[in-house]
Amino acid sequence: MTAPQNAETLAAQTRVPSSNPTSMPDAATILYDTRDPPPFKEGNIFPLEWRVETPKMLEIYDGARDPGWSPNKLPWATLDPKAFTADQRYAMAYWWSLLSVFDSSGPAVFARAMIHTYEAHEEDPVRKCFFSVTRDEVNHEEVCQRAIQILTPGGPLGYEPSTPLGKLGRNNTLWLYHNGGRYWDGYKKAVGRYPLAILFTSFLMGEVSAATLFHGMYQKTTIPVFKEAFRCVGKDEARHMGICLAILDRLLPLLTDEMREQITRQLRAGYVFLSGVLYEPPEQFWELPDTWRPAHRMLEDVARDAGLGILSLDERRENWRAAVLKMKGLLEPHGVEFPAIPEVGIDGKTVAFNPEDMIPVF
Ligand SMILES: [Fe+2]
Ligand SMILES: [Fe+2]
Repeated sequence: MTAPQNAETLAAQTRVPSSNPTSMPDAATILYDTRDPPPFKEGNIFPLEWRVETPKMLEIYDGARDPGWSPNKLPWATLDPKAFTADQRYAMAYWWSLLSVFDSSGPAVFARAMIHTYEAHEEDPVRKCFFSVTRDEVNHEEVCQRAIQILTPGGPLGYEPSTPLGKLGRNNTLWLYHNGGRYWDGYKKAVGRYPLAILFTSFLMGEVSAATLFHGMYQKTTIPVFKEAFRCVGKDEARHMGICLAILDRLLPLLTDEMREQITRQLRAGYVFLSGVLYEPPEQFWELPDTWRPAHRMLEDVARDAGLGILSLDERRENWRAAVLKMKGLLEPHGVEFPAIPEVGIDGKTVAFNPEDMIPVF
């Protein structure tokens, strides 16, 4: 039999933290000892905050939450590869591969830009809009992916074309990705260096050109699933354009002379890069062998005949010119000198091409 425990032992065994508030330090006492952390490092995504300077962007973002379409719901089953010759399939897959240099780099390009906007502590709507554009570009990439894989399973590169034109298409595609890789290298270095006004002007050029391209092809194509795809992608691109315009409305009146000069150079760089899909790749930037351009024209002719909706060179030149003039009309009132773009008949300031200015997106 154990000895009965005295009151003191019992109390020790059942000891719980005292509930007597007077034995705990109060908030004011703790506060006395607090100190702030070292200053937040520049480029850090913290501290978080949700500032709104451009409410219009928030409205656009709300409208973009549901894009209203999805690449897996497009009527792909209506695209019968057997309805085309081998060359037509190769040529159309080639065009989608060309598009993929622009549209399928979109996810990584915009994701990178989105991270930059967090690091730069841009207002909340800017970050959110970049997120929605990134999501859209993932969808656009999937359209390229699905089109290429139905037309050339294993494509864009993992298949063996059986005709000379198909082999030309593959070789041209390799060169396109070679240049796409060079663009990505430049973009990665450049994107963090520019203020928002410059980034968005450059992005606007890409969005204007994308909206122009898809609108034209939507009207021209005779292939139902591509028609629907161009309509949906074109609608997204028009929204991207709206995002850029909403923020530029606020930023353009605040430009400095140095920014204006940078914009002039970037517009020329944008023209050079985007002409790869909107028109024809100019000599500047694009590293292409002599076989590339004649093969490209041949492939585009065959894809056009198959009903893809590729506009003629003259129509494209006109479209590109109209898109560039739209940019000019927007920027000149803010004192931005427009670069000369003689390729589409636009006079302006002659600027040297510098690959470091290469931050356009599609
Ligand atoms: Fe896109
Ligand atoms: Fe876009």
